[in-house]
Amino acid sequence: MSEAKGLRRGLTHYGDSDFALFLRRSFARAMGLSTALLERPVVGIAVTPSDFNNCHRTVPELAEAVARGVLAAGGLPRMFPTVSLGEAFLSPTSMMFRNLMAMDVEEMVRAQPMDAVVLIGGCDKTLPAQLMGAASADRPAVQLAVGPMMTGRHRGERLGACTDCRSYWARHRAGTVDAEEIRLVESRLAVTAGTCAVMGTASTMACIAETLGISLPGTAAIPAVHAARVEAAEQSGRVAVALTQKPILPSQIITAESVENALRMLLAIGGSTNAVIHLAAIAGRLGIGIDFDRLNRISDETPVLVNLKPVGDGYMEDFYAAGGVGAVLRELRPLLHLDCIDVEGRTLGERLDAPLEWVDRRVIRPMSDPVSPVGGIVALHGSLAPQGAILKRAAATPALFEIEGRAVVFESLEDLSARIDAPDLDVAADDILVLKNAGPLAAGMPEAGYLPIPAKLARAGVKDMVRISDARMSGTAYGTIVLHVAPEAAAGGALAVVQNGDRIALSVRDKRIELLIPPEELQRRLAAWQAPAKPRRGYAALFNRTVLGAPRGCDFDFLTSEGADE
Ligand code: FES
Repeated sequence: MSEAKGLRRGLTHYGDSDFALFLRRSFARAMGLSTALLERPVVGIAVTPSDFNNCHRTVPELAEAVARGVLAAGGLPRMFPTVSLGEAFLSPTSMMFRNLMAMDVEEMVRAQPMDAVVLIGGCDKTLPAQLMGAASADRPAVQLAVGPMMTGRHRGERLGACTDCRSYWARHRAGTVDAEEIRLVESRLAVTAGTCAVMGTASTMACIAETLGISLPGTAAIPAVHAARVEAAEQSGRVAVALTQKPILPSQIITAESVENALRMLLAIGGSTNAVIHLAAIAGRLGIGIDFDRLNRISDETPVLVNLKPVGDGYMEDFYAAGGVGAVLRELRPLLHLDCIDVEGRTLGERLDAPLEWVDRRVIRPMSDPVSPVGGIVALHGSLAPQGAILKRAAATPALFEIEGRAVVFESLEDLSARIDAPDLDVAADDILVLKNAGPLAAGMPEAGYLPIPAKLARAGVKDMVRISDARMSGTAYGTIVLHVAPEAAAGGALAVVQNGDRIALSVRDKRIELLIPPEELQRRLAAWQAPAKPRRGYAALFNRTVLGAPRGCDFDFLTSEGADE
């Protein structure tokens, strides 16, 4: 029997499907829809405006343009809300709620009668949440990113959230930017709607979605306020209607090969470390794993080609004008799986056959003259991180790549806040700062891995130190920062038992991170370690009971492909 379409899809079981359809159409008529429109294929538009999400300010306009495209192509557009996650407005961290949003998207796409869906998102966790949900619902889907912010100006300097937020705040902490100037900067960092203006997590994920082929070519980098973004929305609506006629499923687009292409894109753009987690979670929904050894091999053969902050100098508006994802893909072409299909049914090879009008080589370098000859991110292993850790070498200080240092340990986020700037903190520039209990189980994995340089060292001119934690780091941040240490401290990983004064060795060349204590001492300390108390009710309890570690993308165990019903 062929699958029911349009409003006939997924009728409520009353034992009389004609009655169920009659009832549904009656209620649809309450929205003023004509019978002719009710016969059309239905395209859902998942919308995420929220007064707690500045990045999504343009979602209503984009949704209207998507609906216009759907109507023009012969479909019936139906907007529906889902959870929206505005990075700066969520406590304890937006990461806690990515899986909640993914569940919302999956269930609402599956439960409501739509033949295809356009997913409008943008801020850091929203694009991965939508892709996780779409992969599990496996109904034809097009993703539309809201696009990045434009830059602001401050005393002749271009500013963009949020790399410049950090550099100005670091200067304020060091005493070189006073309170009056920092207040001025506050009003000049985030000056339009859209996602952060640099190659942070949001833009990285938009580039990944375009590379996977689930958003339209050429759309990842269009600024949020650009007319081309609205046109892309209209076109996304048209493509979604085409998908109702000739379905291409997310599971046909997100494959082991397209995920590897997406990893190459991540490395070539010097993208966010968070994308490693998100890509693992998206791929994990379809039974595709991300192997850290493979990541390192790909990283060693994929140069950084894009000169944007936080790795380089430019902003997303420059990347768009320079040629965007399409230009990077064309450089990477010999390294890519070209037979992956996109949401329009074309192979990546076919997509890349069309020549680009122009590429700004100041922003997007050729393979022969890269920003860095190796990829932006590496995975580390060793006694401190037996299941792995991540370092964004492209945004780190090479002089700190091969070092051994004394551990200065903070037991928790609260301990860090209480003591990092204490005048009597026993710390020197060549020490290694260690933060425990900021991983998924302990704290929902906030972006706390960018530990501040202790105030007394910052004032003395120290710009970077090796910092190690089980936390994440904002995609807009930089420094020699080892993240996602697994197993995390709260799961009883070696990180849990690091003590002040222990020696730690980092080798980016060998991709190792070692706690230099005898194995028997490590075992003795681990045997004495006690697990922290667990939350007992509500979403926090569900999260704590079921969240997987960073290498598995911090998804819930029952949402991965292994958690699926037979
Ligand atoms: Fe939304 Fe940075 S705060 S993308």
